[in-house]
Amino acid sequence: MHEANALDASTMAGMLAHLPTPLERAGRLGRALGLDPGRLWVKRDDSTGLATGGNKARKLEVLVADALARGCDVLVTSGGLQSNHARTTAAAAGRAGLGCVLAFNDHAPARIEGNQLLDRILGAECRYVGPLAMDDLNAVVERIADELRRAGRAPYAIPVGGSSALGASAYVGAADEIVADLGHEDLLVVTATGSGGTQAGLAARLGHERVLGVDVGALADPAAAVRALTVEVAALLGLPRPAGEPWLLRDQVGAGYGAPTAECRAAIRLAARSEGLLLDPVYSGKALAGLRAKAIVFLATGGVPALFTSRYEGWLTEEATRQVAHSGEHE
Ligand SMILES: Cc1ncc(COP(=O)(O)O)c(C=O)c1O
Repeated sequence: MHEANALDASTMAGMLAHLPTPLERAGRLGRALGLDPGRLWVKRDDSTGLATGGNKARKLEVLVADALARGCDVLVTSGGLQSNHARTTAAAAGRAGLGCVLAFNDHAPARIEGNQLLDRILGAECRYVGPLAMDDLNAVVERIADELRRAGRAPYAIPVGGSSALGASAYVGAADEIVADLGHEDLLVVTATGSGGTQAGLAARLGHERVLGVDVGALADPAAAVRALTVEVAALLGLPRPAGEPWLLRDQVGAGYGAPTAECRAAIRLAARSEGLLLDPVYSGKALAGLRAKAIVFLATGGVPALFTSRYEGWLTEEATRQVAHSGEHE
């Protein structure tokens, strides 16, 4: 093993994420969005606890257990410069006594801020592989894993966003928590969809018709990713094969992945001012901006470190000149 104090898979079970996460009523936010009283809940997966938390902690719980069971000694994954998945993987590696190599689809940043700063503090080896589509990053991870293998290491390759079938299967547990807390299954969960694993895990348990994914523009074809992953998760856990098609909203992307939109900013401010709830500019802000339905559990997925980056600084502090939420206009 990489370190003498590396934990084994059974010791790690339940040690990364703080679960179950709370399900909170969000009456003031619901009212502001025009929902009937008592209809809006927030599932606080921003409170999973691992190095500022977020949805990736659930996936890493099962992925790290698998890595340890296979005798691996280094986690390898990838993402955008402000990847929450990369940061959470670095934290999980430290907690499990494993090494961590992160590949970013960009040049080395001029400013080390937000998640990049946390990646460095957490001790990950950061590699900048130049501008690449998110869809091309898994091949880069496989190449790094091969290189590490040749150097005598035992790498565990994690796809973009932690969205292997195993990683995505962690969101079946989140759906179970929601159903148990609500006490019924008459619900709709709204989540941001990047690599698709979160939506797929929820849909494997609840069915596609009860999970709305708001695409953030990470993948060229998120519906294909969610469709395939949902089938794989269901097969992995022995659940019925899901009927129907993934439910995806694609009008909140704006100019691309991470691009600021007026709707997202309005949503971030609304959640902060009505509930003290911090959303992020890349994922959960866009998810709230896309929220439209009657009975809703909004999944707060974390990502708060990106709020502290210069890219969004001026945009977040500037007051919007007019109400643009849900107008369909992008900045
Ligand atoms: C804060 C946040 N929300 C939502 C998502 C989307 O999750 P998924 O990649 O499983 O679609 C991510 C993925 O990186 C994320 O970091």
